[in-house]
Amino acid sequence: MDYRIGFGEDAHALSPGRPLVLGGLDIPESPHGPVAHSDGDALLHALADALLSTLALGDIGQYFPPTEAEHKDISSSRILARVLELVEGRAPGFEIINVAAVVTLDKPKLESYRRPIQASVASLLAVPEERVAVGFKTSEGLATRHLQSRVTLLAQV
Ligand code: C5P
Ligand code: MG
Repeated sequence: MDYRIGFGEDAHALSPGRPLVLGGLDIPESPHGPVAHSDGDALLHALADALLSTLALGDIGQYFPPTEAEHKDISSSRILARVLELVEGRAPGFEIINVAAVVTLDKPKLESYRRPIQASVASLLAVPEERVAVGFKTSEGLATRHLQSRVTLLAQV
């Protein structure tokens, strides 16, 4: 038995009127959302990279290049599901001990979405909710049209 730390990050430019989805959850009150193929869910993209990094398997761009037609609009939850299958295939018994995610976004205020986002991520990973922490940060007005997420996790392999 072994323990592995994973880390991933992702960023997107924000554009007015686009939908915002974080951790698989819609944030309907957002004035802007990511410019991206599919839903641009920066939290799930960072999480998928964090999972791959536990086993040094590279990053999602290698497995789902947006230049390939079949991946162009692939949903973030499908990317996550396929990455989970991949790591579980490489390390039978792979278990997520905990996940810690941070989302940096100036607007909107996300505090009221913390529990629902944690629940959504926990459900996508099939782990108990108390294993998923989600924090929010502003950029203090330095990056008002920028969305970023960073994720660390601990896995038992
Ligand atoms: O980044 P800063 O330290 O200014 O964040 C202050 C508080 O605002 C934190 O408690 C954070 O959870 C919350 N926050 C939020 N929604 C955001 C950014 C920060 O609720 N989009
Ligand atoms: Mg992304």
